[in-house]
Amino acid sequence: MTDTAGVPGKGSAGHERREVDVVVSGARSYPVVIGSGVVAELASWLPEGTARVAVVTQSGIRVQVDPGVAFETYLIGHGEEHKCMSTVEDLCSRWSEDGLTRGDCVLAVGGGMVTDVAGFAASVYHRGIPVIHVATTLLAQIDAAIGGKTGVNLPQGKNLVGTFWQPSAVLCDTDTLDTLPPREWRCGLGELAKYHWLGGGRLDELPLVERIARCVGVKAGFVASDEREAGRRALLNYGHTLAHALEIAGGHELRHGEAVGLGLLFAAELARALGRIDAAAVAEHRRVVGGYGLPMRIPDGTDVGSLVPLMFRDKKAIGGLTFVLDGPGGCRGGSRRRSGGGRGDSGGCPMSSAVPMVLLLSGPNLNLSGQREPEIYGSATLDDLVEAATDEAAALGMEVQHLHSNHEGDLVDAIQAARAETAGIVINAGALSHYSWAIHDALAAFAGPVVELHLSNPGAREAFRHESVVTPVATAVIAGLGAAGYPLAMRAMAGLLAATF
Ligand code: DQA
Repeated sequence: MTDTAGVPGKGSAGHERREVDVVVSGARSYPVVIGSGVVAELASWLPEGTARVAVVTQSGIRVQVDPGVAFETYLIGHGEEHKCMSTVEDLCSRWSEDGLTRGDCVLAVGGGMVTDVAGFAASVYHRGIPVIHVATTLLAQIDAAIGGKTGVNLPQGKNLVGTFWQPSAVLCDTDTLDTLPPREWRCGLGELAKYHWLGGGRLDELPLVERIARCVGVKAGFVASDEREAGRRALLNYGHTLAHALEIAGGHELRHGEAVGLGLLFAAELARALGRIDAAAVAEHRRVVGGYGLPMRIPDGTDVGSLVPLMFRDKKAIGGLTFVLDGPGGCRGGSRRRSGGGRGDSGGCPMSSAVPMVLLLSGPNLNLSGQREPEIYGSATLDDLVEAATDEAAALGMEVQHLHSNHEGDLVDAIQAARAETAGIVINAGALSHYSWAIHDALAAFAGPVVELHLSNPGAREAFRHESVVTPVATAVIAGLGAAGYPLAMRAMAGLLAATF
């Protein structure tokens, strides 16, 4: 370690040792041990009865490990091009040739790339064998090695194939950070900076071991409540929406942690523009990011126009452009759908509330449900349909507000009013679905997810029903399932909200 920017107390940490438990359901909870020299404890953390250890690492990682049982070392290449399926296949083949069994253990020694690849291979070899991570970079110690996410790249994109596979233990030996190149160190600090706003507090004032332990504790809390990133865990992506776009736009000249630092500054400005935080909170973001020696301006020559489309393409932007934003109650998620018309960015991100409100809209003639053409629309009345949707929503932790009207203007008014507090809209606009551009436009100005719903399948009926003006501004469409579509629409909405909040 030659550059200690942002590390007050580094070196004075002495032999402090911290242990943080990551609690996941079942017997899969595990310790993260942080401190100087903790790699020497390795043998005591092996699962009971481990016969042999397969050490996966890279050339140049000079961390000596002594698992206390027979071990073989397997080197993988450096660079993203080696983070691929053929590396996993190669590891599994070599383990198989060497007779590795489920009674053995994989030991990943390295940064995030090694823990991602070795963790993935361990999770699929013989349908899963134990893995322990010895994380040797700051980024891996505070993030990559914690929480059980594994993965490799495909030619089509980064980390597109992977598993959730919790390790048996994680060792974060702070001595291994002493040899990190300065830029690698700063990258870790970029990822670390986000934890200031995720419950970590003033991390920059803490000695190193304590600081890492605090980050691990925050991440462990998110993992415990949402192991598979269905909801809260997504907040760990604070700063990442712009970061991923910047990395791609710059051909990966900017490293991940540096890009996250910039993403945090952008998210702060966005939160301020939306009235969620004040100038002092923006200044605090600048103080922290700048204090860690991270870039404060996007690189010269960045194609700014490409950033928004790239943010939409992000793997995590399910159902829309997704941001985690700071606010009075801490960080929250929010999303903006892509509309057919390529709209600008007017209006704000919908913010999560304790119980998400879903607006259910019923258009012309749906009040006759159960009476009109039951062979097409079924026998359920509108009350039955609304009740089924409301019950399902309640079971999923959402509240439903229903409005039926035979008048276009009433529906437009309701959609406009929903911009304030409503998380999502489920709409069966009846015949208006086929020609009401006013409803299309109102929905386009609504930022949350929209589920278009029909009892029948209009696409299989008369020609005039084949086009829907709602579809281009809908996040999802459910049609042709009769009354069963109503609770299903609520389930779809719950999934979309979980993906974006
Ligand atoms: C409908 C289909 C529309 O074509 C029709 O005009 C309706 C009901 C449905 O739920 O199947 O009124 O939206």
